Amino acid sequence: MERYIVNGGYELRGDVEISGMKNAALPIVVASILTGEKCTIENLPAISDVKKSLDILEAMGAEITYLDKNCVTIDSKNVKGGISPYELVSKMRGSTYLIGAELARFKKAKVGWPGGCDFGVRPIDQHIKGFEALGAKVTVDTESGYIYADAENGLHGNSVFFDVVSVGATINVMIAAVLAKGKTVIENAAREPHIVDLANFFNTCGAKITGAGTNIIKITGVEKLHGCTYAIIPDMIEAGTFMAAVSATGGKICVKNVIPKHMESVSAKLEEMGMAIEELDDSIIIEKVKPLKKINIKTLPYPGFPTDMHPQLTAVLCCAEGESTVSEGVWENRFRYVEELQKMGADITVSGVSAKINGVPSLNGATVKAVDLRAGAAMIIAGLAAKGTTEITNIISIERGYDDIVGKLRSLGADIQKLD
Ligand code: EPU
Repeated sequence: MERYIVNGGYELRGDVEISGMKNAALPIVVASILTGEKCTIENLPAISDVKKSLDILEAMGAEITYLDKNCVTIDSKNVKGGISPYELVSKMRGSTYLIGAELARFKKAKVGWPGGCDFGVRPIDQHIKGFEALGAKVTVDTESGYIYADAENGLHGNSVFFDVVSVGATINVMIAAVLAKGKTVIENAAREPHIVDLANFFNTCGAKITGAGTNIIKITGVEKLHGCTYAIIPDMIEAGTFMAAVSATGGKICVKNVIPKHMESVSAKLEEMGMAIEELDDSIIIEKVKPLKKINIKTLPYPGFPTDMHPQLTAVLCCAEGESTVSEGVWENRFRYVEELQKMGADITVSGVSAKINGVPSLNGATVKAVDLRAGAAMIIAGLAAKGTTEITNIISIERGYDDIVGKLRSLGADIQKLD
């Protein structure tokens, strides 16, 4: 079984280059099939979730050409709907976007129930509400595990008011609406940078989308989209993970190829803990200059503190003085990793959707499991800060979303290696 072996106790120093954002790449790759033409996507992260998305499109008839490891051309001229391989679709959340994409291009969709990290129930009722508002009939066949959607008379623009702020539902309804007849207005939309990136990609292909990045997005349907060349924005969660890592180990790093504005909520919390942070145009210099102080965090949709940075910050707070609190405001069950940190000597008590973390003088190496993607990143951070050796299993979860995390950490001076 593949695993990471981390020998803790080394400070991180040097420069690290951030890859393209996973959660922007997944919808953009899928959305490219709306053009029926060639799209060249640059700054794609080399991660297994992106690879799976490209494999799914290939199985649907797309021609995929790798120009280098971070750049592909997707020619979707011959793509057919309803044939995405169940075994790939059911392994990742980003595959829900196929429903919107197939509906938009073929007026009907057949897609397996999506997988992804296990944070408790992950409903798609808001996606369905959006598709239905645009005129589709949606059926979830729990026996076969397939979702069917049908818009015999085509999709028509409408108002969609989401009951909860959902990244996935906002993206899926945007995808469905770009080629619909008339105007769609999405209210209570998610405002994450990846929503803006998808809108920019679509507009580059000839779509008419305004308001992305606010909670009201307006989409005027167009007859046709054309192919384009588009570069994915940097991954703010990968950047935040490296910033968290140096906070736990000590040292000084320059996180390059980031949009500092996207990092504001994370930078503010790390500064509150005592980290020194300097923002440049497209990089952030972060240095540990004093012992870390306790803080309280509540995760929220963007621009709040991101839920996808929650486990990593908990790992850092194990190394801070005093009692900190982390409250989860997005997912009902994101604390499964706490048991793993406790194996390393962490003092954490979970109650409902909050955890109290009492800093300890040091964590100790142990064998721990990456229970999901960001939980796995937290195990790496804890291992880098711990005394002794940490063995991390189930690293397949980590490689779903981090591009060469071992190589990047090693270049900063970490003692981490992957064993087959
Ligand atoms: N929700 C509903 N109904 C829906 C959809 C969502 O009630 O139809 C609820 C969820 O249960 C949750 C909240 O709304 O409580 C937010 O869910 P959202 O739809 O925003 O999440 P998602 O689209 O499934 C994406 C990311 C996650 C990230 C969340 C929140 C992708 C592929 N996944 O998931 O990323 O945690 O947004 O920011 O974009 C990760 O990268 O590690 C990851 C898990």
